[in-house]
Amino acid sequence: MKFTAAATLALATTAIAAPSKTTSEQPSKRQAGCSSAVSLDAKTNVFKKYKLHANNFYRKEIEELAIPNLSDPSLEDAARAVSDTGSFVWLDTIENIAKLEPAIADVPCDEILGVVVYDLPGRDCAAKASNGELKVGELAKYKSQFIDKIASILKAHPNTAFALVIEPDSLPNLVTNSDVQACKNSASGYRDGVAYALKTLNLPNVVQYLDAGHGGWLGWDANLKPGAQELAKAYKAAGSPKQFRGIATNVAGWNAWDLSPGEFSTASDAKYNSCQNEKIYVTTFGAALKSAGMPNHAIVDTGRNGVTGNRQEWGNWCNVDGAGFGVRPTADTGLELADAFVWVKPGGESDGTSDTSAVRYDSFCGKDDAFKPSPEAGQWHQEYFEMLLRNANPSF
Ligand code: BGC
Repeated sequence: MKFTAAATLALATTAIAAPSKTTSEQPSKRQAGCSSAVSLDAKTNVFKKYKLHANNFYRKEIEELAIPNLSDPSLEDAARAVSDTGSFVWLDTIENIAKLEPAIADVPCDEILGVVVYDLPGRDCAAKASNGELKVGELAKYKSQFIDKIASILKAHPNTAFALVIEPDSLPNLVTNSDVQACKNSASGYRDGVAYALKTLNLPNVVQYLDAGHGGWLGWDANLKPGAQELAKAYKAAGSPKQFRGIATNVAGWNAWDLSPGEFSTASDAKYNSCQNEKIYVTTFGAALKSAGMPNHAIVDTGRNGVTGNRQEWGNWCNVDGAGFGVRPTADTGLELADAFVWVKPGGESDGTSDTSAVRYDSFCGKDDAFKPSPEAGQWHQEYFEMLLRNANPSF
């Protein structure tokens, strides 16, 4: 699936439009961006001031791929409501940087565009489904052709606000999967690459969140301190960037915010993990981050966590069957450390293929609790989207 930038925004009207209505009768069009440069204060929760933008890339997926193919036409209104929900744009390849300019074009002054930066060399080192285009060792290319390019686009749009999620899963993998050979090979490139991204994207119109896995990952007692130290090292190596706000948790994840007792609290190893929901994780890991000397506010992905009880094991991550859209983006989280609930993973895009013969087939996508068949990671997954809609909690 590919979208060209031109096709995405081919909305312009021309001079031949019938001049029947006066300008004042036309529907009001909100101007993109602000009238002057945006300066975000990362000491504050910017989501209190800016609403997460419902980006036109996801809108187009829903309008062009989902709605015309609905197996149940009565879902159309709900699908449109999803397209009006704020979510993040993923820059997951150098080519997909082309998604950015069109996505910026319709962001009003009181909204913020969420962008995921995701293309480290040797990406997804402990799994296969999201292995990326850059090989271990291609760090120079990552810097000059990916991060620098993104930075120049963000600089060219000083009147627009951006929230960045930096490199999902990367540093958490270094904490818990250091015995995996691919993660060993990737480690120095991840550390250097993440620090470079934070330093280079430290722009006044940007607020940064570094991925911190989730409660079932770095929330284990033994992982809290090493996890916080790993993230703090990247933050400090980047020169403690002013626009850095904290962490993103539960990205593309399934954990409930405040379910108590937590979903896996009866598991035999539950005693080794006090972070049984994301609220406890944000609080507990946040304290560890503070001790490690870095900003510790969080945004939490609630895009697909509307239904709990679907996973056979906490670590299962691929296209979990029975999932539903979760709480809509909001800055009302009830916890000072949690800036906002956001939708980072665009619900309806696959986590990985279930085709066992594919190069990027990962056995997690073949587990009993994974939806099958499923297409390659990032590809539109119509049946899964409809399931998320039907199971949405709150409903649409
Ligand atoms: C994929 C990316 C995709 C992202 C959002 C990841 O699992 O590897 O290609 O952009 O999900 O759907």
